[in-house]
Amino acid sequence: MPAPKALRFPPGKTLPEELCTAMKRIEAYGVVYPAGYYRALLEKYTREGVRYPHILMILGQPRISNHFFYSRALKRTGRLLDYGCGTGDNVRQLIRDGFPRERITAFDINRASIDLGFDLYRDKEEIGDLFIVSEAFPFGPAEFDLVYSASVLHVIADEGELGTYLVNAYSALRPGGVLFGSTLGLVEGAARSPDERGPPRVMPREELTAHLNGAGFIRPEIVQRYHVPHHVADNSDTMCVFEFCTKKPA
Ligand SMILES: C[S@@+](CC[C@H](N)C(=O)[O-])C[C@H]1O[C@@H](n2cnc3c(N)ncnc32)[C@H](O)[C@@H]1O
Repeated sequence: MPAPKALRFPPGKTLPEELCTAMKRIEAYGVVYPAGYYRALLEKYTREGVRYPHILMILGQPRISNHFFYSRALKRTGRLLDYGCGTGDNVRQLIRDGFPRERITAFDINRASIDLGFDLYRDKEEIGDLFIVSEAFPFGPAEFDLVYSASVLHVIADEGELGTYLVNAYSALRPGGVLFGSTLGLVEGAARSPDERGPPRVMPREELTAHLNGAGFIRPEIVQRYHVPHHVADNSDTMCVFEFCTKKPA
């Protein structure tokens, strides 16, 4: 599959600054960069672009840790799929928190963000085997106890593709398994405002619930969180983060 087009950085944000800040955050985890590494990465990503600038802007701040279901997820004993894993920030946090690496699989349809993660964390040799990239969903039925989906639903513009994504998540879960994750959403009562820089799908709570139920999931719990604006044109009055957790019937 050809690499999707890189998106532009939002107003007031630049690649040199965001790359430097992300590297500083990741150094706090003990990663050491050799001399000239920043310059080499800057040249690479100036040339190739960054597919999801927002993901670089929050790289090193894994969202999974704050999820309301996370402490329960850590206690489960089955396999976990990070579906649409991007850079793999959340996978690394799971490992740091003691979730056994042999029970983690990270999957994405695109390699670009995964490679960005390896470039910044410099750990491809240690955890490269956990990542799978493929255009088609490669997992059979009932392989996982948990599916985690962070910031994926809001990047899927196409209705059919969203349906397929959720049906895949449902099918990959064993009966009683849990889908949890987060997506940008629309604050109650706010009108949708088209924003060419914004995410392609910003759903109100009822629409998210309907999509989850439509795929077969039951009793979705949805918690609304404040959407921290990442730049001057980012709208936290109308946008929020919905954290969700829902079950495949046992
Ligand atoms: C905004 S990024 C979020 C990445 C990561 N989950 C995180 O929280 O940092 C969205 C990711 O979803 C992936 N994605 C989009 N549609 C997908 C699909 N149908 N199946 C699997 N991954 C998908 C993209 O390639 C991208 O890596």
